[in-house]
Amino acid sequence: MNRTTMMDEVVNIIGPYILKILKYSDVTPYNFYLNRRKFVEALGLASLAFVPTPTLAKQSYSTNAKPNTIEEITNYNNFYEFGTSKTDPAKYAQSLTTDPWEITFEGVSQNKKKFDLAEILRGKAIQERIYRLRCVEGWSMVIPWIGFPLRDLIDELELDNNAKFVAFETVYRPTEMRGQKRATLDWPYREGLTIEEALHPLTFIAIGLYGKELPNQNGAPFRLVVPWKYGFKSIKSITKISFIKEQPYTTWSSENPREYGFYSNVNPNVDHPRWSQATERVIGEGLFGERRKTELFNGYIEEVGDLYKGMDLKKYY
Ligand code: MTE
Repeated sequence: MNRTTMMDEVVNIIGPYILKILKYSDVTPYNFYLNRRKFVEALGLASLAFVPTPTLAKQSYSTNAKPNTIEEITNYNNFYEFGTSKTDPAKYAQSLTTDPWEITFEGVSQNKKKFDLAEILRGKAIQERIYRLRCVEGWSMVIPWIGFPLRDLIDELELDNNAKFVAFETVYRPTEMRGQKRATLDWPYREGLTIEEALHPLTFIAIGLYGKELPNQNGAPFRLVVPWKYGFKSIKSITKISFIKEQPYTTWSSENPREYGFYSNVNPNVDHPRWSQATERVIGEGLFGERRKTELFNGYIEEVGDLYKGMDLKKYY
């Protein structure tokens, strides 16, 4: 059987499951899956683990809020590697080569530390998560991501003992990312989580949205999504993941430690030094639309509250 026929078969077999799980696939041309090598491979390889029932059960982590349109999600972005204006990523991110893509792991004891994206996606149960994204700037969106919990990846690695934090790095490629030619930020963009946060079932790796491959402006081909934290923690286009003992350097909290903390949990009671965090402007509601009340941990207090029990959230912002 040649490669194309094999892929067609795989897609034929798992196709019905995809349609069942990807709620938004009715707005997606089904041929999409056949056309994009990487995504087909990901889903094809994931087919062994593609059991519809447990996958559907995890859907409870999703919000019932109505997702923003694909136009809103892909044209109003923060991705400083392509410029600081909200429309720059849509304009310029196409220049980033996302295939092939490799991710290096540090703080793991296995010999092989560098993996191709297809190897990483092998066996992963791909699922949809509809999450609110609350930016520290005071706006929010609802985004139907496609991907898998970061935990599923961590479970496959042999971690060195005693890792307490996970550090993430975006690719550094100034020839393709025009914003990196200037020192707007201290490149590469870096972020981090505690190991407990990284292992939390809500912490997600997005490889797609709206049932399609992830657009470059949203962090293709592999980005983090941590729905209870301000959006800047959800680092895009990741190329390196390190398991370490000390709290890592993170871009925004180093840039301006008074304004951006390491934790950066969404919290209406702790204002940014220059603006209130009590409410948010919902993208798509118009500039004069009603503001939404921001919720503690972006509405996930039941799921993540225990991680911060007894912690002074004003001090550890
Ligand atoms: N990741 C990288 N590498 N560079 C960035 O500038 N911006 C962050 C985050 N991840 C950013 C990043 C910010 S501030 C937000 S609000 C979200 O990405 C925006 O994600 P979106 O454009 O997919 O909505």
